[in-house]
Amino acid sequence: MTDLVFPEPFLWGAATAAHQVEGGNEGSDWWEWEQRPGTPCRDRSGVACDQYRRYAEDIATLASLGLNTYRYSIEWARVEPVEGSVAQAELDHYRRVTDAVIGAGLTPMVTLNHFTLPSWIARRGGWMDAATPALFARYCDVVVRALGERVDWYCTINEPGVVAFGGYLGAFGFPPGTHDASSWEKAIAGLVDGQRRSRAAVRNARPSAKVGATHSMQAWEPDEGSRPLVAYLRRMNEDVFLEASEADDFVGVQTYTRVPVHLAEPARTILRLALRSRRLMRLAAPPVLIRQAKDPVAGAPKGARLTQMGYEFAPEAVAATIRRVAELLPGRDIIVTEHGVATDDDAERIEFIDRGLAAIHETIRDGLPVRGYIHWSALDNFEWARGYSMRFGIIGVDRTTLARTVRPSARHLGEIARTGRLTTAGA
Ligand code: BGC
Repeated sequence: MTDLVFPEPFLWGAATAAHQVEGGNEGSDWWEWEQRPGTPCRDRSGVACDQYRRYAEDIATLASLGLNTYRYSIEWARVEPVEGSVAQAELDHYRRVTDAVIGAGLTPMVTLNHFTLPSWIARRGGWMDAATPALFARYCDVVVRALGERVDWYCTINEPGVVAFGGYLGAFGFPPGTHDASSWEKAIAGLVDGQRRSRAAVRNARPSAKVGATHSMQAWEPDEGSRPLVAYLRRMNEDVFLEASEADDFVGVQTYTRVPVHLAEPARTILRLALRSRRLMRLAAPPVLIRQAKDPVAGAPKGARLTQMGYEFAPEAVAATIRRVAELLPGRDIIVTEHGVATDDDAERIEFIDRGLAAIHETIRDGLPVRGYIHWSALDNFEWARGYSMRFGIIGVDRTTLARTVRPSARHLGEIARTGRLTTAGA
């Protein structure tokens, strides 16, 4: 047996997002999207985990496990339900939540935007509307001032690449459900601007806070003929946002799997030809990308072990993305702000955590500045278009009674957090 010792201090935590756990997020674009006739959503979020009311119990449980950090998000649609009017009662609510986090001995890490937008923003075009980044920054200023000295860690926009790709190119059945390259590009530009403006807003309101965006990154493994497509995808989904993180205090890395890409003919030939011009590439690549995203199983090697999401079970993939960030932004602090697995077998979750952490530990041994590990998710919750069919929680939630069950993986992660060590079977 070997003990892998993690540096101190280290943020050890679990994460949630408001819409996925709070319940009743009626003023948001997602709420409307779930109700729309023909919606791609499997379920309505409804009461979710009712965390809006049960936050104290959940926070106390996370702290009792031995974790030291809770990453959660503030809902813009609640704080600013109508353009320009701030709901003081909601700010008070999030102050109480944050006080409970601190009171339990946890460090709050607050995400300012986790996928959802107020309906009034969505009606104007969401991230495609040129006014959205400034409006987002104004809301960030309000929140950061309201939380004041309570919060030292802010995540600005969660997975901007997924928002643009999943909703504006339409790959994941997210709102607004546009399906064209030009909406995609407009949303990317808005999200990049939003990233920069929100960072400035946080810094201005609370100069001592650490601020950064959190990025969805996969360990792409293209074969030779698929490289042009993956290069394009990375540029649009990851690199453009990582570049906008160049002045962030930390980079949040969120990696769920590795993705081998083996395009079949004629897609390879079409893309090789399309590479000659940006215009051709933006016509040829999106349909191939959408097909690839809609069928993750097709990308996994034959016979691969799959998670409920259909991803290959590949906990170590996070090390590849950490290394990539360290190459692109040398010396920048890195926090794994999400890493997790959807499964009904909690022993698999423990294995996922251990193998992921062992791989992360290697990157630390190699001198990379990894400062924390935040598991997705604290609770089983509303997995966007996939609804309640995915179980990501270290704490289970009964869908009928909403009763919580602390799973062995929660205690396991808590033990690692408390001791700062992971015991592995390796020599
Ligand atoms: C998101 C979470 C989501 C998780 C699992 C991340 O893309 O930030 O909201 O639930 O992955 O799919």
